[in-house]
Amino acid sequence: MKTIVSPSLLSANFIDLKSDVEMINRSEADWLHMDIMDGVFVPNISFGFPVLEAVGKYCQKPLDVHLMIVHPENYIDQVAKSGAMLMNVHYEACTHLHRTIQQIHDAGMKAGVTLNPATPVSVLEDIITDVDLVLLMSVNPGFGGQKFIENTIGKLKRLRELIDKSGSKALIEIDGGVNGETAPRLVKAGADVLVSGSYVFKAQTPEDVIHHLKEL
Ligand code: DX5
Ligand code: ZN
Repeated sequence: MKTIVSPSLLSANFIDLKSDVEMINRSEADWLHMDIMDGVFVPNISFGFPVLEAVGKYCQKPLDVHLMIVHPENYIDQVAKSGAMLMNVHYEACTHLHRTIQQIHDAGMKAGVTLNPATPVSVLEDIITDVDLVLLMSVNPGFGGQKFIENTIGKLKRLRELIDKSGSKALIEIDGGVNGETAPRLVKAGADVLVSGSYVFKAQTPEDVIHHLKEL
């Protein structure tokens, strides 16, 4: 299977979002990654549901929504209304993760669970067959352009093992510090989906960078 590429809109040019969404539409990107932050779960605030809805209407690629917020279960209907294909919630933000995953499915979306760098893969043992995707944070969430945390490679291999052993069909997505150096190593270690923000949007020719990531 070819690597799924999900550029992160967080590094786009917010004064001219339309051009960047058009670039995504033209490109070989599979999904568009949308980072919503609340200033509580993470020490930053990005954009909210009005932007998600506007981009959702214009973007021809499925939306991969990453909620870095407390109580994500309160916003399932709003995310679904934007037309999102996938809703990622943080393990650390969900007291009743199993219920939240069910509610995301009931709203007609794929459900992803996200782990912070310090959260071990083993916490997923009893939920791995219920989720469609696991998103491993390879930086501490909240900001684009941070340095890749090396421990992610070993963690990714442990997750691959857990998924293969359990018979789960979950995809593995990696988010943070994905670039020309880390991407090939992540694909080799078993990543299915690569999120990339600054490496794509700050490039001279973002479409070529997306093409290059697809070829891994
Ligand atoms: C960070 C976000 C990422 C961010 C990645 O909290 O979840 O999606 O956009 O940015 P880069 O690829 O620049 O590390
Ligand atoms: Zn993200």
